[in-house]
Amino acid sequence: MARKHPLLLRPFVLVALAVALAGSTLGAILLLRMHLALGPVDTTWIQVHGQAQVFGFIVPLVLGFGTYLVPRIAAGKPIRAGLAAPALVALMLAAVLNFVVPLVPGSAAFLLRRALALLVAAGSLAGAACLEAPLAARRRERGPRRGHELLIEASLAFLALGGLADAAAWWLSASVPSSALPAGLAAAAWRLAIEGFALGMALAVSTRMFAGFLGLAPGLAERQHAPTRRDKVFLAAASAWAASVLLGSVGALAGLDRLEGIANLLFAAGVLPLSLQLGLSSTSGGPAIDRTRDAVFPFGARTAYALLVAGATVGAAASLAELFGLPVHSLWFDARRHLINIGFLLTLIATMAGRLAPGFAGRPLALPWLRVFALAGFAASSLLRALEGVAGQWGPAELLWLSGLSGPLAASALLALAASLGATLLMQPPPGGPAETPRRWSLCRAVQKHRS
Ligand code: HEM
Repeated sequence: MARKHPLLLRPFVLVALAVALAGSTLGAILLLRMHLALGPVDTTWIQVHGQAQVFGFIVPLVLGFGTYLVPRIAAGKPIRAGLAAPALVALMLAAVLNFVVPLVPGSAAFLLRRALALLVAAGSLAGAACLEAPLAARRRERGPRRGHELLIEASLAFLALGGLADAAAWWLSASVPSSALPAGLAAAAWRLAIEGFALGMALAVSTRMFAGFLGLAPGLAERQHAPTRRDKVFLAAASAWAASVLLGSVGALAGLDRLEGIANLLFAAGVLPLSLQLGLSSTSGGPAIDRTRDAVFPFGARTAYALLVAGATVGAAASLAELFGLPVHSLWFDARRHLINIGFLLTLIATMAGRLAPGFAGRPLALPWLRVFALAGFAASSLLRALEGVAGQWGPAELLWLSGLSGPLAASALLALAASLGATLLMQPPPGGPAETPRRWSLCRAVQKHRS
């Protein structure tokens, strides 16, 4: 008989971390070459890095945590577990092909690109369908829906769209051997997958879990209650975020810079209030169920959301200046992207994974200082990276050197996180230690008690 909550996290995390190490090392090499003027950088390799980090690392990692978390935060309904392994295998093979494609000439490259397109579409659609089952079950119940469930639904729709856009980019690029991906299509796909799927899932999980882990009042009240002012702000902000993802990807696809600029402004208008209600909210009033279990968690959560605010603000300021016709250096947009990707997503992943992996593995976090190093490394790396905007816009050029160092720092932080999580998940639990601890459920019950 199929288990209601199958434990799928391990293979997803291991595949994601392996791709992440390769993708980050490549990114660090590219960054050093660019910022230290060590030599030319081929666009194809930049795209290989982007593809690896987005569809080889972040998407499988978030899907993996989703297989574990979504049933638990969507009324205990099961996922479509049969789709999880095919999704992971497809995304893993797509990641391998991604690194191989630039090395293969001629008609073989044509076939590899087309195969990659089919794999990435299949992996994304299967992954989205796998996690959508609990939400479909909730819809069928026709009961009141919770805010975090709506966020997950939007995120999964963005994953499906992102996967299709990415597949289209690879499919079309196959007809011109050794060409780069169509830039607009690839940028649209990556925006949908990162700012839509991964960020939306991070917001949903924060909305549901921070009440217990940080002691915040739970976000987005259930629909049967009259919405409070806080709920209304939250819903308006979440709608602005969703609209920004759609507008930004359409802007990228159509090559409309002004539309992308407006999307960046909307993104900030959505993300700032959400961050103030989640990671940057006051901790008074909520249940302090878990605050003492992981002393690092509150620092990590607050740092991640502060960096998300920084990324959104940098993007909004640069876009506003551009809309007013002022000269804006393009490196600001790379700084925005990596403040969100490394600063927010990776810092939050180190924070959440370090907290969840021990509960999953039934043993304490292995090598906990490596997780602290990873967390500090991601935060520092994203701030150093943002210096490239200052250097590009006003100089001095030496700042580019400092920004270049952010690459090796982020890559070593990832190595540290991979070592800590890998050791936690792969080592045997202590004799008699359960793989699934009942404490998680007591946490859910405690949150529900607080709500009622
Ligand atoms: C480990 C640290 C990282 C380093 C050193 C790094 C480095 C780079 C470099 C050098 C570029 C090219 C920038 C340019 O063209 O001006 C780039 C682009 C990009 N990076 Fe990263 N990156 C890192 C992490 C990440 C992460 C975690 C993600 C995704 C979650 C990501 C996604 C992207 C994307 C989508 C692009 C755009 C590629 C393109 O436009 O073709 N990067 N990165």
